[in-house]
Amino acid sequence: MSPQPIRIPSDIKNLPHSASASHLIDVSNERIEAFMLSDDRVIENFVPCDFHLLDQALSWIEQNHLLTGRRFCEFGSGFGVAAMLAAARGMESVGIEIESSLVDQANRLSEELGLSSKFYCGSFVPHDISEIIEISRDVEHVDTSESEVYQEIGLELDDFDLFFAFPWPGEEHFFESVFAAGAAVNSLLLTYRGRNGMHLLRKT
Ligand SMILES: C[S@@+](CC[C@H](N)C(=O)[O-])C[C@H]1O[C@@H](n2cnc3c(N)ncnc32)[C@H](O)[C@@H]1O
Repeated sequence: MSPQPIRIPSDIKNLPHSASASHLIDVSNERIEAFMLSDDRVIENFVPCDFHLLDQALSWIEQNHLLTGRRFCEFGSGFGVAAMLAAARGMESVGIEIESSLVDQANRLSEELGLSSKFYCGSFVPHDISEIIEISRDVEHVDTSESEVYQEIGLELDDFDLFFAFPWPGEEHFFESVFAAGAAVNSLLLTYRGRNGMHLLRKT
């Protein structure tokens, strides 16, 4: 059975942020801006999501008791703000990112903020998905050739309870297929869809 959507109401935009989440978001936005200005090489696939909306979606998920456990994984973590917001809520949280400079930035910021989130360099795409060539056919913004990092993390895809990703428009199906193929039954996939806000799926 394919993963089932759970509708997130648009009024989550009214949910308040904790002081620590607001601080984390402000510091992260400053760091991202400084990093983008200082780095000569443009990392084309890195675009940050709406961190305020993400924090509100995490609040809504917790308030509605949708989680089956406390392990969080950010697919393509960039600066790692999603994984840090999850860690600030007491979740055991990791981010997986292919660009080493972003992994360094995320680990540095997480440590500076005293958070337990950890970031790993490599691919979130498990190599044992048999239909990977088929599902990655039209996907340009996800690297499907690098080695996966689950062994280094010490956890498998089906050990996590909540995933977050910000797919490029039109590439959502790839993240959903990876989730459907490898995640645990009852785990959740939250994705940011730009103007269409947050989208949530539960694996059934
Ligand atoms: C659109 S950005 C989102 C960054 C972050 N999640 C956010 O919302 O702010 C997508 C990120 O995925 C990374 N990426 C692309 N393919 C990847 C792969 N196979 N494994 C891990 N990261 C990947 C890119 O380098 C980029 O930083």
